[in-house]
Formats: sequence, C-alpha cells, structure tokens
Amino acid sequence: MKILFIASEIDGLIKTGGLADVAYALPKALCALGHEVKIALPAYQQIQSVWQTWPKQTFESKINHFMTEPVSAYQGDFNGLALVAIAHKDSFNRNGIYDERQQAYSDNPFRFAMMTKASLDWCQLNSWQPDIVHANDWQSSLAGFYLAEHFKHESFFTNTRSILTLHNAAYQMYCEQRELTYLGIDERFYTEQDFKQQDGLNLLKGSLGFTDGIVTVSPGYAQELKTELGGHGLTDKINSLSQPFKGILNGSDESQWNPESDIYISSHFSASDLSGKQQCKLDLQQRLNLASEVSKPLLGVICRLTEQKGIDLLIPAFKQLMQANQCQIVVLGSGDERLASELLELAENNQQNFKFINGYDIELSHQIEAGCDAFLMPSIFEPCGLNQIYSLRYGTLPLVRQVGGLKDTVCRLADDYTNCDQATGFMFLEANSTALLRELERLLAVYNQQPDIWQQLQQNAMQQRFSWQKAAQQYEQFYQLLLSQEKAAH
Ligand code: ADP
Ligand code: GLC
Repeated sequence: MKILFIASEIDGLIKTGGLADVAYALPKALCALGHEVKIALPAYQQIQSVWQTWPKQTFESKINHFMTEPVSAYQGDFNGLALVAIAHKDSFNRNGIYDERQQAYSDNPFRFAMMTKASLDWCQLNSWQPDIVHANDWQSSLAGFYLAEHFKHESFFTNTRSILTLHNAAYQMYCEQRELTYLGIDERFYTEQDFKQQDGLNLLKGSLGFTDGIVTVSPGYAQELKTELGGHGLTDKINSLSQPFKGILNGSDESQWNPESDIYISSHFSASDLSGKQQCKLDLQQRLNLASEVSKPLLGVICRLTEQKGIDLLIPAFKQLMQANQCQIVVLGSGDERLASELLELAENNQQNFKFINGYDIELSHQIEAGCDAFLMPSIFEPCGLNQIYSLRYGTLPLVRQVGGLKDTVCRLADDYTNCDQATGFMFLEANSTALLRELERLLAVYNQQPDIWQQLQQNAMQQRFSWQKAAQQYEQFYQLLLSQEKAAH
C-alpha cells in the first residue's frame, strides 16, 4: 500500500512527546511490512539543516482565498524514511513548535491545516496516489475533511481512505468562528453536528465525521472515550460515529529503548545480568549530585508538566516521602510554571534526595529509565503512555494509575502477592494523593523487605515486548478494512 502519514513531530528531528516516537516508529514498521510510506511534516526552522538541501518543489496550494504565496515541499530521506517537509512563508520559521513562552501561536489552526492540505496537493502534483492518508491528532485532523470536500470533484483520491489516530483527544483545537474562512471550511459545516461548539469551532470534533476510520492508541482509552468521564467532551460525537473505531496499542522502538544497546547509558544490562543497572544507578546519582546510595530506592518521573500527568498528586506524596527520608526522587520535565516552581522548591529543601531538572533532555531521559528502581506515572488520563513501557523494558518497575493505556500495559502486584509470576508493577485507582501514597508505600515495602519478589517482577517486566511490528500489522488490517468499505458517508 501507499501510505501518506502526516505528523507535526517526528523522533530524531523534532519532539515534545510520544506522538514523535510513534511518527518515527510506526512508519518504519509499516515499511518493514512492505508498504511505501511518506511522512509529511512541517519544515520547521529547528530542523532546517536536514531539509534545506533536499530537492524542492514550489506549487500553489490554497485552503482559502487569502493565500497568495505558494508553498514549498522538500523531499528527502531521514534514517531510511521518506519525508516531505512543507514550508510556507514564516509559518514554521518560529522559535517554538506550537508556542513560545507558554503562549500558543494564534495562527496554529492555519499553520497545521495548510501543511495538511499542501501534503495532499503534493501527492497529486507528483502523481503519487496514496491508498491511505493517515493523520495524527488535531494538527492534521482536517485531512479527511479536505479529501472529502476540497478534492471531491477530482478523481485522484477516489480510491484513497483517510484515517485519524487520536494520540490525545484532550487537545481538540477550539478556535474562533471566523477561522472557518481561513481553514477553507464552508459555513454549512458550522453546525453542532460538525465543527460548531458553543460560539466557536472545534477542529478535532468536526474532523471526526469526515474521516473514514478512527484509531486511538490503546484499547483502554478507546473504551474511555465512549464514556462521559473519559471522553473529553467528545463522548456523544464518538458514540454517534458510524465509521470503524479501534484501539491499537503503541509499541516500543527497540532500536532506541533497549538496555542492552542504549547509546546513552554507560553500562548495558539484560534480564539475565542486571549488574549494569546498578552501575547506571550510581552514574545517575553522581550526575545528579544525589547521595550515592545503592540500596536506597530511586524513583523517576519523566513527562511534560501538565495536569494530565498527575503531578498534583505526586507533590504532596513527595513531601511526605522526603520527610520520612525513605527514598530518592528525580523528576525531568518542562511545561507548566506553577508545577515547575513547586518541584523546584521541593528540590531546594531536599538537596540530597530530590532532584528536579526543568528541561527537555533526551540523554538524561534514557539514563533515568536505566538508573532508577521504579518509575512513577500517576496520570489523570493516559491515551497510551510510552514511559511506563520503556520502564518495563529497563526493569524499572512502573507505578501507574489505573487508566487508559497504563492499565493495558502494567500488571499490578496483588495485595496478597499471589500473582508474582505475572505482575510487572504497581497501580492505584482513585485520583488522589492518599491512594497514590498508599501504593507507593507498598512499592517501597516490597523493594526494602521482599527483594526476591522485586527481582521476580523485574524479570516479568523485562520480558514484556510491545512490538511495533504487531501494532503495524493491526494498522495494516485496519487500512484493509477501510479500503474494502465505501468512504465515510457524511
Ligand atoms: P506524552 O506523549 O503524553 O507526552 P508519552 O509517555 O507517550 O507521553 O511519551 C512521552 C515521550 O516524551 C517519551 O519518549 C518521553 O521520554 C519523552 N519526554 C517527555 N518529557 C521529556 C523531557 N522533559 N525530556 C526528555 N524526554 C521527554
Ligand atoms: C499522546 C498521549 C500518550 C501517548 C502518545 C503517543 O501524547 O498523551 O499517552 O502515548 O500520545 O501515542
């Protein structure tokens, strides 16, 4: 099959979160299955050195009548993947990807919609007829709409089917009604059934109705999206969809996240020889200026600092743990300033045992996965989550909230320890600090008092495999299903 994959981030080039990991690994796995994949992404200035020397095509691509300047597409290879980087005026010549100093760019709807539409025009210009146009999150969600409306009088995309993967349905891009004109959305679609929400536009909600098939990144989250509690306000829309809708669990890229070959860690290790992990712990303690104590449990957190990740549950629990001098903690993250300043205060008051790195550091993220004993991910919601999957691979036992992809990937150690042969971590349900702390104390008790059980769980965890090949095969079946059906009737 020919697959056009449209994404706003790709690992190795530009990344803020897990979407980038998927946009690199899934196309790679689809190529390995024999498909021809091209990835369209914005020609960000941050990665200019990569695309600027690639062959360039300049052409007209309009989503509205105001666009007077043509767009340019640079086509080239990145680690064996075929990329098409789309440039237009100063749309992607910015210091940030989506925002600057916590302020989202006001023309975000236009920037990403324009890139999406241009990637479709690029296909036509080059007579490259995709079987599947695979969009990701709100940024490229309008692909299905443009195929259905802007290209409806042309035969080029007649046999093409559109799919949208929801990596995070909380980000829907709500914008003003006047954006309709800039995005090339006809007034007749400004209804509650399509793009209208209150007095504005909801791009993700509206796009769902024009897409031939919808996937989200875990079966658990797919179920939650159908409920009021977990649907981010989209429940009615999701439940009314007649198109195929499925949860496909993300994988983990073994070429990046494998303790036996990880390029960022000094000592490699495996399930059969964990001695290197102890060295990684010492290295991490040293790098972070934490007391070098091998037997003290070291807990890690890596995430975007947003409400989603449950940092508000962690902070009170951290305070109690620090008072009891029970463990060491390292948090790597950036984002919300309030959360950052609370974490900074904790670090200042507990210099020997608590480290907060306010930033984005890929090397350190690997060293935390390798050097910590346990990984904390008490998310309020979590479509899939990748760090708990990476943690399993590194024998760093995850403590997660029982939600979305977290509950699909971690098996909780039962209270009576009767599932030691299967358990891979710890889990709690209620979204409050007390429940989190209770489970954290259980984790610490097992670590300190039951080393045999801890090691058994590490073995179980390290043997888990979340393969991209398996996920790609499920996507392949989903594509085939869409191709065997009529396009979504709107
Ligand atoms: P989300 O996509 O919601 O941010 P995931 O767990 O799916 O959550 O993926 C997060 C990805 O981003 C992981 O690869 C993680 O290592 C990485 N990441 C998040 N924050 C940072 C950070 N501050 N520094 C380095 N990597 C980070
Ligand atoms: C999102 C989600 C995360 C998921 C990632 C990749 O950013 O928050 O749970 O793992 O996308 O699909």
